[in-house]
Amino acid sequence: MVDRMNRRIVLAARPEGRPKPADFRLEQAPLPVPGEGQVLLKVLYLSLDPYMRGRMSAGPSYAPPVEVDAVMEGGTVAQVVASRHPDFAPGEIVLSHSGWQEHALSDGSGLRKLDPQAAPVTTALGVLGMPGFTAYSGLLTIGRPKAGETVVVAAASGPVGATVGQIARIQGARAVGIAGGAEKCAMVKEEFGFDAVVDHRAPDLAERLAAACPNGIDVYFENVGGHVWDAVFPLLNTFARIPVCGLIAQYNGIPERQGDRLGLVMDAVLKKSLTIRGFIQREFADQREAFYRAMAGWIREGRVKYREDIVEGLEQAPEALIGLLEGKNRGKLIVRVGQA
Ligand SMILES: NC(=O)c1ccc[n+]([C@@H]2O[C@H](COP(=O)([O-])OP(=O)(O)OC[C@H]3O[C@@H](n4cnc5c(N)ncnc54)[C@H](OP(=O)(O)O)[C@@H]3O)[C@@H](O)[C@H]2O)c1
Repeated sequence: MVDRMNRRIVLAARPEGRPKPADFRLEQAPLPVPGEGQVLLKVLYLSLDPYMRGRMSAGPSYAPPVEVDAVMEGGTVAQVVASRHPDFAPGEIVLSHSGWQEHALSDGSGLRKLDPQAAPVTTALGVLGMPGFTAYSGLLTIGRPKAGETVVVAAASGPVGATVGQIARIQGARAVGIAGGAEKCAMVKEEFGFDAVVDHRAPDLAERLAAACPNGIDVYFENVGGHVWDAVFPLLNTFARIPVCGLIAQYNGIPERQGDRLGLVMDAVLKKSLTIRGFIQREFADQREAFYRAMAGWIREGRVKYREDIVEGLEQAPEALIGLLEGKNRGKLIVRVGQA
């Protein structure tokens, strides 16, 4: 049995700066009916990710924005509840991109079947999904850490950062995390096994980071920008590599004081032969199968650990996303939307 109405959250208005609850609207729509070649999906879990802030704005980006009044975009784990598609049967669990809603139609493209026996299905949104793959591909392709080198990553308690540090250690490198507050710092060190961790809220962040990196920084996996970048920058070694993965500190707008720094950065790129390369994980799509194999093995062997922060109910998604942008999440943020 499926419900006859579909609850969904749409973008009500484009936020100025920090998003607020009124920028979202919960609405009901008739439950869609699958046509020939389509499946009806019931969303079980919705992934909340920092990139969603970018999709709420109309400015130029690597992906088109969500239109006002359209359903918010998002990765999901869903169950097939009705199928008119030869490859999918009711009851199957799939990774999909159904957005912030309880039900969605799909023509099957982009769906990936999940085996709930192989791993908890929520991991397909985190350590065994897009964030884990982002860490894997960005670190190994651009960062290329070598044994004995120092790898620094911020947002180190989140799904990307925590995975970057653990893969760095598997490569024999020293992992130094940066996180906000004592609780997250303890998690990074004790739960994820980083060699050192520094609190980015400490007033003497630069000194603490320098003390944690006595041999300088060989790979800086950039997740945040802002004041963390200020502390990292002077510690970069010659030939340091910098995968630029995210700049969450400026997703709600670039702080004014950052505006004049570009010249200084570029001077060092030249003088220190730095490699600074931005990337979007899908550019490395051909590495996905290798990633699934490697990561499943590392998790099985206990070499990669992960934490999930599961929020109950679709209606909680706006507050949870706003909280994510402020660091309120503890691990991979996921919303439980429905029950299988
Ligand atoms: N390029 C790609 O293809 C790709 C794919 C996935 C993710 N990303 C990027 O990777 C980064 C991490 O993503 P995630 O999913 O793992 O997120 P996450 O770590 O779960 O959440 C973001 C974290 O950023 C930290 N943060 C927020 N504002 C900050 C600030 N001003 N200064 C320092 N830290 C701040 C907060 O942690 P603290 O409390 O520790 O500060 C927050 O918990 C994001 O920038 C995201 O956009 C990029």
